[in-house]
Amino acid sequence: MADKLLDDLFHETLKDIYYAERQLLKALKKMARAAQSDRLKQAFEDHRAETETHVERLQKVFEIIGKPARGKTCQAIDGIIEEGDEVASEFKGTPALDAGLIAAAQAAEHYEIARYGTLRQWATQLGLDDAAALLEETLNEEAAADEVLTEIAESEGNQEAMNAKDG
Ligand SMILES: [Fe+2]
Ligand SMILES: [Fe+2]
Repeated sequence: MADKLLDDLFHETLKDIYYAERQLLKALKKMARAAQSDRLKQAFEDHRAETETHVERLQKVFEIIGKPARGKTCQAIDGIIEEGDEVASEFKGTPALDAGLIAAAQAAEHYEIARYGTLRQWATQLGLDDAAALLEETLNEEAAADEVLTEIAESEGNQEAMNAKDG
């Protein structure tokens, strides 16, 4: 009984992150276009490419559990992406734009990190070791992407926003 429930929960959460990843593919493309610094643009483009792999890995996990790869609307990621859109339009053409885009992107990464951390743990509990390994690979890439964003924020994004205020 307990296993059956965890099984269902795993499948439902997989659908949630599958939807989120596919929305993020589109969002990252837009954010790369909106970003001002070349470094941030590149970071968004690189992570968009990684995100394609995340989608493929999820398709493999669906295969492992014998279910069709199908997403389910995730309001959390829709909200995070919407906030990013708002920042992009409100701060367009200002020195704070990149800092705002980084903040929005990090919210998305943290959402993914939370989801993949949970899914990996459940996969292990369910004895789905191959699925757990796939989920962990993506989890590590999300964490690395988050670190890159922190580094860019520290080295340029926030600095520019502050300089503009001082001057
Ligand atoms: Fe991802
Ligand atoms: Fe990500």
